[in-house]
Amino acid sequence: MGKIIAVANQKGGVGKSTTVVNISAYLGSRDKKVLCIDADPQGNTTTAFGIKKKTVSASTYDVITGKTRIQDAVIHTDFKNVSILPATEDLAGCEIELANNENRLNRLKMQVLTCKTDYDYIFIDCPPALGTITINGLVACDTIIVPMLAEFFALEGLSQLVNTIKIVKSNYNPALEIEGILFTMFDGRLNVANDVVEEVKKFFPDKVFETKIPRNVRISEAPSYGKPVMYYDKSSKGAEAYELLCHEILGEPLELPKKKRRGIFTFNKKNKEE
Ligand SMILES: Nc1ncnc2c1ncn2[C@@H]1O[C@H](COP(=O)(O)OP(=O)(O)OP(=O)(O)O)[C@@H](O)[C@H]1O
Ligand SMILES: [Mg+2]
Repeated sequence: MGKIIAVANQKGGVGKSTTVVNISAYLGSRDKKVLCIDADPQGNTTTAFGIKKKTVSASTYDVITGKTRIQDAVIHTDFKNVSILPATEDLAGCEIELANNENRLNRLKMQVLTCKTDYDYIFIDCPPALGTITINGLVACDTIIVPMLAEFFALEGLSQLVNTIKIVKSNYNPALEIEGILFTMFDGRLNVANDVVEEVKKFFPDKVFETKIPRNVRISEAPSYGKPVMYYDKSSKGAEAYELLCHEILGEPLELPKKKRRGIFTFNKKNKEE
């Protein structure tokens, strides 16, 4: 039975799509069967896997609105064990199209449940908003990964998201849990970054991933080649950080040679890298 993980944060540009693409690629390479659901009309995850939107015949829009079965819309990527339900711009229209539909928040869940046993992991890349599509993702998933920047304003955004998670949990999805909060584009040399990590840890003591994803140019270049970073530059810091994150998700020891771990773990005055 696959685990369904939504990657959500209503703040834009915090690394949601990047995280979905790179975790999926790594878990696929480890023989896990993975489905990525691109639930963002921007279709960044779709593009990052090298899929041209013009070639997409059925998308997340068709699945959420019930025009197509999820099995008929999923396509294989070029990367081992990774399939995708692609998104195109028309997904933006489903907010309005479903506005008067009683089951509008359950649409994705109903479809995902029909393929849950076909995969080990299903990731849902949510759009940067707390609207119908993101709520569909939160209703459909078992757990949530929250990528965030270690910036002061990110704390406000986090409390808004946590309120939404509480509402979804009490009304639609009682088993919903946070898988982890993931700091992305992290620079441990900045005091503010370490302060924000400490602040978030106070509120979510066991929920902050040990692995931090550093700002890394290879991560941002890879999508323009239609590749996850591990297939673009396997020895980059970015690829190593996402690999380490996957060890954490799989409950494995965080094994990386010490010299490679600089910048991936939190590095501050109080908590020196061991
Ligand atoms: N660790 C990183 N280092 C450098 N650049 C990064 C990193 N993570 C993401 N980026 C870049 O930052 C930008 C935003 O990332 P991404 O698209 O994954 O965020 P998002 O949260 O999905 O955005 P949106 O809210 O628009 O969907 C992209 O250009 C991406 O390539
Ligand atoms: Mg995105």
